[in-house]
Amino acid sequence: MGDQAKLSAGGADYDYPILKGSVGPDVIDIRKLYGQTGMFTFDPGFTSTASCESALTYIDGDEGVLLHRGYPIGQLAENSSFMEVSHLLLNGELPTKDELEKFEYTISRHTMLHEQLRQFYQGFRRDAHPMAIMCGVVGALSAFYHDSTDIADPEHRMISSHRLIAKMPTIAAAAYKYSVGQPMLYPDNNLSYTGNFLRMTFGVPAEEYEVIPEVEKAMDRIFILHADHEQNASTSTVRLAGSSGANPFACIAAGIACLWGPAHGGANEAALNMLKEIGTPDKIPHYIERAKDKNDPFRLMGFGHRVYKNYDPRATVMQSTVREVFDALKVDDPLFETALRLEEIALNDPYFVEKKLFPNVDFYSGIILSAIGFPTTMFTVLFALARTVGWVAQWNEMISDPGQKIGRPRQLYTGPTQRDYVPLDKR
Ligand code: ACO
Repeated sequence: MGDQAKLSAGGADYDYPILKGSVGPDVIDIRKLYGQTGMFTFDPGFTSTASCESALTYIDGDEGVLLHRGYPIGQLAENSSFMEVSHLLLNGELPTKDELEKFEYTISRHTMLHEQLRQFYQGFRRDAHPMAIMCGVVGALSAFYHDSTDIADPEHRMISSHRLIAKMPTIAAAAYKYSVGQPMLYPDNNLSYTGNFLRMTFGVPAEEYEVIPEVEKAMDRIFILHADHEQNASTSTVRLAGSSGANPFACIAAGIACLWGPAHGGANEAALNMLKEIGTPDKIPHYIERAKDKNDPFRLMGFGHRVYKNYDPRATVMQSTVREVFDALKVDDPLFETALRLEEIALNDPYFVEKKLFPNVDFYSGIILSAIGFPTTMFTVLFALARTVGWVAQWNEMISDPGQKIGRPRQLYTGPTQRDYVPLDKR
């Protein structure tokens, strides 16, 4: 018998197996706990709970390590492409040259949207937030692609996954085009995944669009940095939605809804808005004081992370990408100086040091995306586009797990105990 954890409760002793992963903390398998003790564990926010077994992504938050299928994020961001990383997450291994060509070809065959789906956009208000459009349109995919929604069939699952990865840039670019009142462009499959997205977003039918290689590379890297992140809120949402057997398009729409929140994917939008509000470095001390004040709801957006208690490795890559994009586009943004200074001041302040609050992936991404030309409302959309590969990979992993069950947490009930109904005239 392997290691056991001992629990004494209600005057009795119980043993629970300790399971070991390939790396990272061991877990205590408490699946039998309720049956044996009649008690639940209490862990709101899942700060100490492993919700599933996964072989996709590993994070060591104390050391600032992020691995996809074992490969460090820095190496992937430096050397690979988003399509390679997508293949890696979805299929378990980096593709060979032939496999990559085949994968890219397959994805490119699914980039178009059903014409009727394009008409969906007209139903949204002209000033709708593009994330609202994303939730609606991605959810609506399930009404169009019935032929790939038998989740028990691995081939259906893979076709749906490919469709989602392929169509997301088209859907996202169309959301942007709708918001600025320009015609939506059809995909151009001669371009790379990322080049195609940039063209559909910034191109217009009246002119040839030229993809700037440095910007394409930076954008592709940003997609890599957002591709997956273990059991975060939106991924857990996708898994929970999928655990009931819901179709993948509906599950990804649920993930998009969760991602939208400012504590999660919405933080990149919030971080840039914050930097704009701070404006110049001389105002930083005032905002640092506000962030430390418990009576002030203001937080440093793009700072802090549930898992990273060290520098987010994605923020490191993001910071170095800022200059590359500025150089390629021959632009500068004084907010970058403000961000660098803010980081420096915060990292030397005892409040941030003691609480281990470091810049996260969102701290610098807004500056790059803004330089490329995206409005802040599109930031979370880009995150959703990239995270789709992680979501579908996690969803596939869950459905293929023979031990998979519907997710159904329990609770600590603190409401009234049973009481009798009081008729209206007696209340
Ligand atoms: N600014 C100021 N104080 C902060 C910040 C911040 N950005 N983040 C955390 N703290 C403080 C909290 O007030 C709390 O202090 P206390 O212990 O005295 O009460 C302590 O640090 C711990 O914070 P929690 O909110 O309990 O930590 P949690 O793990 O629940 O939250 C989160 C993590 C949501 C990311 C938080 O750090 C935050 O709100 N950051 C700003 C939003 C953000 O950048 N989100 C993006 C995350 S990355 C992503 O989703 C891709």
